[in-house]
Amino acid sequence: MLIKLPSASGCKESDVTPESFYLSRRALLGASAAALAASTLPRWADAAGPSPYAGVEPGAAPGWFKAKLPNTQWQAVTVKGEAITPFKDATHYNNFYEFGTDKGDPAQNAGSLKTEPWTVVIDGEVGKPGRYALEDFMKPYQLEERIYRLRCVEAWSMVIPWMGFPLSALLKQVEPTANARYIRFETLQDPKSMPGQRSSFALIDWPYAEGLRLDEAMNPLAILAVGMYGRELPSQNGAPLRLVVPWKYGFKSAKSIVRISLVSEQPKTTWQTIAANEYGFYANVNPTVDHPRWTQAHERRLPSGLFSPNIRQTEMFNGYGEEVASLYTGLDLRKNY
Ligand code: MTE
Repeated sequence: MLIKLPSASGCKESDVTPESFYLSRRALLGASAAALAASTLPRWADAAGPSPYAGVEPGAAPGWFKAKLPNTQWQAVTVKGEAITPFKDATHYNNFYEFGTDKGDPAQNAGSLKTEPWTVVIDGEVGKPGRYALEDFMKPYQLEERIYRLRCVEAWSMVIPWMGFPLSALLKQVEPTANARYIRFETLQDPKSMPGQRSSFALIDWPYAEGLRLDEAMNPLAILAVGMYGRELPSQNGAPLRLVVPWKYGFKSAKSIVRISLVSEQPKTTWQTIAANEYGFYANVNPTVDHPRWTQAHERRLPSGLFSPNIRQTEMFNGYGEEVASLYTGLDLRKNY
């Protein structure tokens, strides 16, 4: 399936990725994708510098090699002029509290996550509920690459090439009933493999849960990701299945999803339950509504350091307003933060 996402903020992958990186990844992804890419390649004068894909290839980082994803179509890319975050940073600076609270903990600890076999339950207000093995769950969908900004509520950001399929495709397949108004995403609860769920750090009432309004979930930008950087998701990034909603703060992007429920009432979400005055249900990226303890007007684009903090102005809806602003017409985004 190939949907069109015409947008002022849109551009092709070739606009963000120097040719040498672009070519080497195409080689990883198979001849047909490479042939497609070759016909559209731009001329890049300055293709030098470390590849953001370093560490994705076998041997570059032992133990990190993930299977490549087949039959990928190339899709809307919405990060004009911005570099893809190096794979190393995207996989070593994570929030995944099931594996610890420090940014490096998930990379260190998520090796214990067992992603095979994996089942996903679809239930609630749907005509076709079911429990699926992940392979069957994914089968009907054509994988697409989406290069999106990821803006965390903590005011750091990255640019990630995800692989996945539109959440709307799944929703159409399962036939929401007339009562379905929201979606609740529930993630894995497995204290045996998840040290954060065993620890005395009892702030979170596991399992981690998130939610969207049905019309938000139907927006073409919302995807269920199974991969990044051309390969299956690393465990610390939410293997084997995570949500990606790029106009919302990163905490909406639930990792390691096991249940997707269509419901009639707005579901309780993890961060809202912990601190409703700090983290709302909508969590749309909004530079004009500060977090009670820090500004949301700007962000630190990773990688960044003490002497090169790489600060950028935060954009309304993370730069995806053209695609999503109409979802919120008439809604007070100060109250519904
Ligand atoms: N999903 C689960 N299950 N557990 C978590 O702790 N953290 C969220 C989100 N999804 C989280 C989660 C937060 S706060 C962020 S910012 C993003 O995942 C981080 O995604 P990344 O580590 O791939 O950058």
